[in-house]
Amino acid sequence: MRISKKVLLLLLLLDLLMIFTSQLVSSKGSEEKKFYIIYFGGRPVEEDSAVRKHIDVLSSVKESFVEAKESIVYSYTKSFNAFAAELSSDEANKIAEMDEVLSVIPNRYRKLHTTKSWDFIGLPLTARRKLKAESNIVVGLFDTGITPQSDSFKDYGLTPDLPPHWKGTCDVSANFSGCNNKIIGARYFKLDGNPDPSDVLSPLDADGHGTHTSSTLAGDNVPNASLFGLAKGTSRGAVPSARVAMYKVCWISSGCSDIDILAAFDAAIHDGVDVISLSIGGGSADYTADSIAIGSFHAMNNGIITVTSAGNDGPSLGSVSNHAPWLLTVAASGIDRAFKSQVQFGDGKSILGSGISTFHPTQKMYPLVSGDDIAHNSASKEDARFCYADSLDSKKVKGKLVLCKLASWGADSVIKGIGGIGTIVESDQFLDAAQIFMAPATIVNSTIGETINHYIHSTGSATAVIHKSNEVQVRAPFIASFSSRGPSPGTKRILKPDIAAPGIDILASYTPLKSLTGLKGDTQFSKFTIMSGTSMACPHVAGVAAYVKSFHPHWSPAAIRSAILTTATPMSPRVNAEAEFAYGAGQLNPRRALNPGLIYDMNNMSYIQFLCLEGYKDSSLAPLIGSKFVNCSSLIPGLGYDGLNYPTFQLTLKRKQKTTLAIYRRTVTNVGPPRSSYNATVIAPKGVEITVTPMSLVFTKAMQKRSFKVVVKAKWDPSREGQMVSGRLAWKSSRYVVRSSVVVYSPYEEDDHVKINNYESVL
Ligand SMILES: *[C@@H]1O[C@H](CO)[C@@H](O)[C@H](O)[C@H]1NC(C)=O
Ligand SMILES: *[C@@H]1O[C@H](CO)[C@@H](O)[C@H](O)[C@H]1NC(C)=O
Ligand SMILES: *[C@@H]1O[C@H](CO)[C@@H](O)[C@H](O)[C@H]1NC(C)=O
Ligand SMILES: *[C@@H]1O[C@H](CO)[C@@H](O)[C@H](O)[C@H]1NC(C)=O
Ligand SMILES: *[C@@H]1O[C@H](CO)[C@@H](O)[C@H](O)[C@H]1NC(C)=O
Ligand SMILES: *[C@@H]1O[C@H](CO)[C@@H](O)[C@H](O)[C@H]1NC(C)=O
Repeated sequence: MRISKKVLLLLLLLDLLMIFTSQLVSSKGSEEKKFYIIYFGGRPVEEDSAVRKHIDVLSSVKESFVEAKESIVYSYTKSFNAFAAELSSDEANKIAEMDEVLSVIPNRYRKLHTTKSWDFIGLPLTARRKLKAESNIVVGLFDTGITPQSDSFKDYGLTPDLPPHWKGTCDVSANFSGCNNKIIGARYFKLDGNPDPSDVLSPLDADGHGTHTSSTLAGDNVPNASLFGLAKGTSRGAVPSARVAMYKVCWISSGCSDIDILAAFDAAIHDGVDVISLSIGGGSADYTADSIAIGSFHAMNNGIITVTSAGNDGPSLGSVSNHAPWLLTVAASGIDRAFKSQVQFGDGKSILGSGISTFHPTQKMYPLVSGDDIAHNSASKEDARFCYADSLDSKKVKGKLVLCKLASWGADSVIKGIGGIGTIVESDQFLDAAQIFMAPATIVNSTIGETINHYIHSTGSATAVIHKSNEVQVRAPFIASFSSRGPSPGTKRILKPDIAAPGIDILASYTPLKSLTGLKGDTQFSKFTIMSGTSMACPHVAGVAAYVKSFHPHWSPAAIRSAILTTATPMSPRVNAEAEFAYGAGQLNPRRALNPGLIYDMNNMSYIQFLCLEGYKDSSLAPLIGSKFVNCSSLIPGLGYDGLNYPTFQLTLKRKQKTTLAIYRRTVTNVGPPRSSYNATVIAPKGVEITVTPMSLVFTKAMQKRSFKVVVKAKWDPSREGQMVSGRLAWKSSRYVVRSSVVVYSPYEEDDHVKINNYESVL
């Protein structure tokens, strides 16, 4: 099977093959039916009457009350008022016209986008903790489920007195015996059909992704964890004493559905989670038509911070997902460890290939051939060079190592399946994250591949051996090539991603229900495995958000994000060409985030002002704010360029206008010593003027607020089209540095990345 580059990327970087873009089609009736989400507003006063209302509304377009009742798959009534149902487009249009209905949005499917990483970013085992407060924190994950028997979720040392604010439950079933003092919530959401036979209708994780992310976030300390001896160390989460609530919304082969994601938000907000971690991507640029943007807005209204992955579609610009300004969007960086296998050749030479091969060779040397020399009679040499399943002559593979160009993942499985010993895969992409193989294999780049090919053809008897992988040191940090880049496709005014955290070759817990690769013939199973992706970076930041919250229980989502962003360790634009569009504020620094000195706080009104500025029309805001009317014209005046109190600054220049000037209004709150004073330090890139007034801020009390104004003025420079330059504003006191990136982007086209549809045009 040949697959496109894009799919290839997903196959490597997402351990899950959750690519499902087509919408479900009902088998009943001739007209095509789809799932829709119908919004009424904020949290209903009375749940039962809200449900009755849902059925009433639906009855008016269905044949009967009974049919209406049966068509509703979800009534969301705990945290906001909406329902999901299977409708024809006619029915959806009729409902959209009703007065009491605020908005109708079609359902979409998303895709899913480990312990040295904590030491690397400076959160050692011995870090200061507030254990009692930490054990009262509940972290909610929306993922593929969880493995309750995993060592990461034993409840040693955790008391049965659950956090007083917790109202969640456990779905007990044949496959899930229930919770303990560590996993205190476990639900599953799947109302659009039966799961894949390899999945289970329970909170149990048949995939491994959810077990991995949960243990990175809140797993207990597990000494001597490793993948067959690789990456050995103590596996642990950011907050080992926090409680875990799993909301299973992602399913093998069908992916993650909007209607299930919204149901998880409705439940998690009601249940009382403190932090939501969501390693799922593939949303819309329009915040009012995106289940993650909508659900997380309601979470924010309830004081819950939502942390999300930036996506694995890098390094192209504008690829970042989950970019709503109330989300904390995480890019993936590399730590100073990589996995390499030594390959020795019969001529005495040796090289290092990439990837994880856990097999010790049993012979000193094996015959080595190139795929194109062992083509099946009817197959072309070109196909055989890629080692497609039906292109090789199995008689000529038996007992040998084969050199293959990368076409799709699984050449190791193909070669093993027809009796081969192992595979050397040639590729110039995907070299920064380690792929796990199901048989001896390694990846080399095209230069080395050519050399090996030359060796094979210069002798009739080439031989080689692939050794078990080892850890090697590499220079770090750097941003993963796959990590999605800014600028945000949703707005010109906000810098996304927000921050970078480790997301390459992370060791964490895994499921016993799937082999390491999930490939046919793989017999490797392990309690721990290594995965890469912004999916793995996200729980690192969600964990630190929980860590900050255990010290500052009353901080708002915006305050926690501000603390994490302004204390990040700056990263180098020399190593990462896309600079802030790759890493946002820089690398996560957990311990400094506890004491930021100043915070940029804000509430839901700031976001509404921002949306008004962005041109969202009054009624299109309904799914977010739960009411049909907002008077945007009364909100906008005097707000400044972005209307927000964001801890970073982004200016997108007006094309070909000689100079663009933007005024930003900001307010900082003193969370350091009562008496403190800060001076502004500004670094402006060439061609950009940054002025701050006033230049110093004096505080005499804790929680005192001080406002200031930042003016950014930049000239249009045709040679910088499509590029970004960055500077910095830092507030410095004798003890703290409160750092903000200032980014100036020169777009290729006016409005090239702002695409706002209102819902009518989507229907
Ligand atoms: C789930 O439970 C059913 C019924 O007991 C059982 O047949 C099945 O093997 C279980 N699946 C897993 C993955 O445990
Ligand atoms: C650590 O794990 C390895 C296998 O991964 C095992 O052989 C060894 O005995 C373990 N050591 C300890 C101290 O548990
Ligand atoms: C803003 O948040 C407050 C407090 O959390 C809430 O009462 C109010 O309804 C929210 N307003 C909107 C428009 O969402
Ligand atoms: C392949 O790797 C070698 C050694 O690390 C390096 O010298 C060479 O430039 C690389 N080739 C490509 C195409 O990246
Ligand atoms: C909206 O606000 C503006 C400015 O405050 C005011 O002039 C206008 O009458 C308001 N519109 C409505 C419909 O209330
Ligand atoms: C701020 O600048 C003033 C004037 O240059 C200086 O006296 C003061 O010590 C500075 N404060 C800090 C905290 O650096």
